[in-house]
Amino acid sequence: MRARETRIAAVSPETMKDAVGLLSGGDVVAIPTETVYGLAANALDEVAVGKIYDAKGRPGNNPLIVHVSCVDEARELVADWPREAEALAEAFWPGPLTLVLSKRAGMVPDITTAGGNTVAVRCPDHPVALELIRQCGFPLAAPSANRSNHISPTTAEHVLESLGGRIPLILDGGPCRAGIESTVVMLSKDEAPVILRPGSILAEEISEVLGREVRERAAGAERSVVGATPMDGGAVLNEEVFLSPGLQQTHYSPTTPLVLVKPDDLDSFLGQMGMEGKRVGVLLFSGMENRGEYIYNIMMPRDAENYAFELYSALYRLDGMGLDVLVCEMPPEGTEWVAVRDRLVRAGCWYSP
Ligand code: TXA
Ligand code: MG
Repeated sequence: MRARETRIAAVSPETMKDAVGLLSGGDVVAIPTETVYGLAANALDEVAVGKIYDAKGRPGNNPLIVHVSCVDEARELVADWPREAEALAEAFWPGPLTLVLSKRAGMVPDITTAGGNTVAVRCPDHPVALELIRQCGFPLAAPSANRSNHISPTTAEHVLESLGGRIPLILDGGPCRAGIESTVVMLSKDEAPVILRPGSILAEEISEVLGREVRERAAGAERSVVGATPMDGGAVLNEEVFLSPGLQQTHYSPTTPLVLVKPDDLDSFLGQMGMEGKRVGVLLFSGMENRGEYIYNIMMPRDAENYAFELYSALYRLDGMGLDVLVCEMPPEGTEWVAVRDRLVRAGCWYSP
């Protein structure tokens, strides 16, 4: 695509007006939400939505979330607004919950929903996003404002790094509060609700509101491609496998290979990397002594909410350092860690000693 000049502008009445002007004219604008920055366009304008796919390099078979400012707007986009949608919206909107429902005919164009017969709707809990939707008078399609398969942005600078030269305007509303993307739940007439993507709103919170079990879609097979073959006699990075992007379906990835390591295996893995002269960046969880000059480490928070808030920033920071390998000392299992672990597992590969 042709290069464009990207302006990054603090939110003000003037820059809001600029954003509304661009969006109303069928262009894209990166905007803050409470989860991550989104790349917004008029969800009802197929040419405008096409520009989102182009700027991100996103495959056309991956549908977008349509952002609304209230329940009434969501209802206009769907074929049916079931009681369960009402209950969840009542409990969690505005907020980081996306509802996938059957799509009303003739409203949202196919390109926005990737040709499917469902539409994902969400009412974001961010004054800038809400005000933009209201001023525009149309819903905003907005995926995370990063190049396809890269780390989601939680600051305006992250957006610039990922999409600079491809979009006209980034509205800078400061760092995003939640730090990881919304929980996506699909409601259908015939089946139990399913969580398609975990997020800060937990499965049990949704169950509690609905008074019935929600299913969590089984995580894709976790990749475990780093490690020793029996002949290796120890831990060896199998770079051929984990450096070949075509071999795995990855999401949310840094450019530098990311290896997920259980706390008990951290020492042996770092020892191995040291011997190989690798320059390593580590997301630490349990704390650690200084393990040598080849290590750049970031101490991550011990609670899931703050960990989520800092995760993408930490990955951006380490990814920008030109290191050989990033290592994440994995946080524990347990319901509050489901979303964080989901993002990590998709971004990296397990180390199996
Ligand atoms: O927090 C968020 O959800 C952020 C902010 C900007 O709102 N948006 C976001 O969008 O993360 P994106 O495009 O990066 O992720 C949307 C996810 C994708 O996994 C997509 O496949 C899924 O939602 N999705 C969207 N529409 C869907 C649909 N109709 N059916 C099933 N999944 C859908
Ligand atoms: Mg995304």
